[in-house]
Amino acid sequence: MTVGLIPGSFDPFHNGHLEIVERAAQIFDEIVVAAIRNPQKSEALFDLDERRDMIAESLSHLENIRIVSIAGLLVNVARDVNATAIVKGLRAISDFESEMQMAQMNRSLSGVETLFLPSSSHYSFIASRLLREVARYGGDVTAFVPGPVAKRLYDKFPEGTS
Ligand code: PNS
Repeated sequence: MTVGLIPGSFDPFHNGHLEIVERAAQIFDEIVVAAIRNPQKSEALFDLDERRDMIAESLSHLENIRIVSIAGLLVNVARDVNATAIVKGLRAISDFESEMQMAQMNRSLSGVETLFLPSSSHYSFIASRLLREVARYGGDVTAFVPGPVAKRLYDKFPEGTS
């Protein structure tokens, strides 16, 4: 059985992430989506449990999905779920440098391979950082995130903070 591991901060999960999970779910027998604390990023908007719940609700239409949330090394998750490969979406060349570095580090640490899927051009400008900012100041993010995520963003920022 092939297992694709899709890791990310997912703070919050958005339509660009959704597209990558949907496509990967057609390639692998099972997809494990791992919401992971990124130690390079400062304070998160959603805690890991909230992220896991909103991802689960956003992917309820897919059958071969498992969701985990962890704070720790990705290669340990890859080992624990018996991942065939890590799968990452690439939005633009600007993503490439850091993703390449992480892929090489993860392969050096454990031998696990990383496969990159090019994101659709419809979604290439969507970034969690921008969504947090738009929602915080009262902008409408419903076109960019699954319904369960839009609801949670609205609950956090009912009228924005402007
Ligand atoms: O969505 P992001 O923030 O780009 O995802 C980055 C993430 C969470 C996948 C990366 O920071 C990660 O793998 N963190 C877990 C800790 C780890 O394994 N660090 C070494 C990476 S080579």
